[in-house]
Amino acid sequence: MTTPTTTRFPTTAPVADDEGQRHFDRVIAEDSRIEPTDWMPDGYRRTLTRQISQHAHSEIIGMQPEANWITRAPSLKRKAILMAKVQDEAGHGLYLYSAAETLGTNRDELVDQLLTGRAKYSSIFNYPARTWADIGAIGWLVDGAAICNQVPLCRCSYGPYARAMIRVCKEESFHQRQGWEILYSLSHGTAAQKQMAQEAINRFYGPALQMFGPPDEDSPNSQQSMSWNIKRFSNDELRQRFVDMIVPQAEALGLHFEDPDLKWNEERGHYDFGELDWTEFKAAIRGSGPCNVQRLQRRRQAFDDGAWVREAAAAYAEKTASRSTPERGLHVA
Ligand SMILES: [Fe+2]
Ligand SMILES: [Fe+2]
Repeated sequence: MTTPTTTRFPTTAPVADDEGQRHFDRVIAEDSRIEPTDWMPDGYRRTLTRQISQHAHSEIIGMQPEANWITRAPSLKRKAILMAKVQDEAGHGLYLYSAAETLGTNRDELVDQLLTGRAKYSSIFNYPARTWADIGAIGWLVDGAAICNQVPLCRCSYGPYARAMIRVCKEESFHQRQGWEILYSLSHGTAAQKQMAQEAINRFYGPALQMFGPPDEDSPNSQQSMSWNIKRFSNDELRQRFVDMIVPQAEALGLHFEDPDLKWNEERGHYDFGELDWTEFKAAIRGSGPCNVQRLQRRRQAFDDGAWVREAAAAYAEKTASRSTPERGLHVA
């Protein structure tokens, strides 16, 4: 019997490079999709492996700040909703690891990159959720920013990533609505509840805007990603789109953003907003954000605690495979 492996797709397609390149160029020019068995440039494969796996790591690490509130949710209904949301994020991580694996790097390696600190994940998850209102702010602003980033990825040139994004985006829309609804309840509650909601969005406004990445002039790889149809809009375009969306939503909540430069610009037809603290952003990416150490420690612990599940699943898969008959087309040896 063959040893089970998590890599299910060939890393090189059986075509000459120049023929493959012509096919690749044609697919990109037609705005069509590249599939796992197609030839692709090494840089394209590397870029997507990095992007999709970082996205998967972000979904998995992003479960932590919210999971910390499951036991403290203010009602049974809120607890059930939050549990479902955190479970959705685990599912997003799993779709994305599967999509990344189609590029030829197996999941064990991708997970190892996260656990050993070689891979990055979204800086936003290095911030703590201090109050219940933060759970509302995370849903509304963090999942909201994720939607702005991810809706264009549904048209990404790499088929498995684009298809994974369709379902992810549908679920993120629910997440955003539940966050907004938590904040709406608080902002229409007591004065103390309204203040808690305001303080939560004060904390998350800047970090949520930074989720779109550095300004365009500091994002040298964006142009290549755009020419490969991986990325459809620049970081600054997406950030602007997000700000234009959340300002009226904040007004509907009866809350505001503490940004003195935030105002409607009639000429541009967009909201202007203040400079973000990029030194803080870089620190959170490099590992010195408020919760970086805690997040990675927790993930390593969860990985170790889950060893028996992986062993049991592998033993079960082996047993099932050895019992299968060739006639049923299930025998793998
Ligand atoms: Fe998600
Ligand atoms: Fe989400």
